[in-house]
Amino acid sequence: MTFAATSIRLIESTDASVIADHLARDEEASSRWDPKRPPEFYTTKGQIERIELLLGQYLSGQSWPGVIVSDGAVIGQITISGILRGPFQKGYLGYWVASPFQNMGHASRAVTMVLRVMSEDLGLHRAEASTQIDNFASHKVLRNNGFGTWGTAHSHIYIAEEWRDSLFWERTLSKEAPSV
Ligand SMILES: CC(C)(COP(=O)(O)OP(=O)(O)OC[C@H]1O[C@@H](n2cnc3c(N)ncnc32)[C@H](O)[C@@H]1OP(=O)(O)O)[C@@H](O)C(=O)NCCC(=O)NCCS
Repeated sequence: MTFAATSIRLIESTDASVIADHLARDEEASSRWDPKRPPEFYTTKGQIERIELLLGQYLSGQSWPGVIVSDGAVIGQITISGILRGPFQKGYLGYWVASPFQNMGHASRAVTMVLRVMSEDLGLHRAEASTQIDNFASHKVLRNNGFGTWGTAHSHIYIAEEWRDSLFWERTLSKEAPSV
């Protein structure tokens, strides 16, 4: 079986409508994994505002907000946030893939690519992520990319009407000393 290729690029305001469509269609399926969002999150207008916020954080060096693309279409998001410089040189990874495109290897390949952005373009030393304890697909995506777990935070995030534990993941990218 052949699958479409995967690529990633920085998000643009013009991605808002396709992202809003994916999020609205998958709202119920994602509710087990994502926090509850306000109604505007599922609209093009709400996504334009969110993307502008993300691009502002990109320009100030706090994040790298990307989209996952297959066959020329946006099928998900991949974001490095919370970039911390100084002696840490680390960033926090988040991602989702729209339901019609899941289980085709897109998230695993997108994470491989974003790790290259983190180390080669941003010069980061360490990648971190967190998942819910039972998000086995997400565990697989991280394990496919050399991440290991480093701890559990109890009662860490309120999702689907409950405080849930989070599993924390890490991967070292380069051993180079930070430039001062
Ligand atoms: C988690 C998510 C990003 C995975 O995206 P994807 O493109 O389907 O991931 P991939 O195809 O690269 O890999 C999925 C792997 O998980 C495995 N998998 C899928 N469902 C699984 C399950 N219920 N239990 C165990 N493994 C599972 C697949 O078999 C595949 O394994 P492989 O690499 O050995 O083939 C996607 O399901 C998603 O967006 N879910 C909703 C939001 C979310 O959970 N985001 C992550 C928050 S931490």
